Amino acid sequence: MKNNLMTEHFEPMVIKDFTPMAGTTQWESPSNIALVKYWGKMGNQIPRNPSVSFTLQNCVTRTQIDWFEKKGNSSELDFYFEGKLKPSFGQRIQKLIATIAEQNTVLNQYSFRISSTNTFPHSSGIASSASAMSACAAGIIDMLRQIREAQDSNPWDEDYFKQQISFYSRLGSGSACRSIYPNAALWGEVSPDLGSNLWATPLDHLLHDDFRQYQDAIVIVDDSTKSVSSTMGHGLMNQHVFSKIRFEEGLRNTETMLNILRTGDISSFIDIVEREALQLHAMMMTSNPSYILIKPNTLAIIEKIRQYRQDSNVPLCFTLDAGPNVHILYPFAFRDKVKEFIETEIIELNPKMNWIADEMGLGTKQI
Ligand code: DP6
Repeated sequence: MKNNLMTEHFEPMVIKDFTPMAGTTQWESPSNIALVKYWGKMGNQIPRNPSVSFTLQNCVTRTQIDWFEKKGNSSELDFYFEGKLKPSFGQRIQKLIATIAEQNTVLNQYSFRISSTNTFPHSSGIASSASAMSACAAGIIDMLRQIREAQDSNPWDEDYFKQQISFYSRLGSGSACRSIYPNAALWGEVSPDLGSNLWATPLDHLLHDDFRQYQDAIVIVDDSTKSVSSTMGHGLMNQHVFSKIRFEEGLRNTETMLNILRTGDISSFIDIVEREALQLHAMMMTSNPSYILIKPNTLAIIEKIRQYRQDSNVPLCFTLDAGPNVHILYPFAFRDKVKEFIETEIIELNPKMNWIADEMGLGTKQI
């Protein structure tokens, strides 16, 4: 692998006799849903335990990056979201570009105009940093590829290209590094020869057929902004009374989950996915200070899911992000039944609730 594990950086890209030229690229990247959760980090975005996720298909960010030669004091970055200038998120993107520029100094010669849109409603409460950061990292790495290939016709190896995108997405937002790969991904070191803390590892090749086209129905329980950010939540894990147990459990559950995904053991899948979701929220409820992100309807939906599973034998299960919304995971074959269950039993809890039908998807791509 072309990286240096000690400095946690990729090899710098060497460009000789270089004249900056304007260019453009457009990328789409999805959100992902963790089955085993990343919760707690150290150093430079190094996870305290490995995590596993399904890559989504419909909840995506589309990002266009235009670059121009930087002139004098011209602005370095204008970031637009849904057509409007958004300097606050622009600062996070600026930070990501500065990080990539540490190793790839050609970037310092450019100004950028970046425009992003999401396919999911902005205020849906769905984590957008994974899709936004990975789409942006992909665009910038593609820009570097274009600059390099204008000088050297040897194309970059595709695996290396994706690994760089994953590496830099991670520095933008940890969970973003898993969005790059189709269907399922692992992030974090499971053993010296399995997984890496620096980038995600694709898992598509090991998926049992029963885990293909897995569905994710996202019930939006509450679309307001979170009271405690994920970054603060990760920080609280440093002093948490249960942190050691949680990090060990995250590692153990990752090992078991990899086996489950290989063998198609859906009942063990349900067991781990639900325990991981509840353990994530148990960590929030028992941190110091403690906080609660789930709402009464989150619990009501969980109860309905468990009851329905028992009564119908449909193998659906729930998971949660760092928020009140409920992701209902289930195999493709049960699509009609689960849709009917959601529309009759779940939405009746509060007819104002919306839900988004999503499923496994192919990861980050150029558009
Ligand atoms: C609960 O990736 O949003 O969704 O690295 O600080 O940007 P930062 O955190 P972030 O944390 C996501 C945590 C989670 C679980 C997961 O996706 O694994």
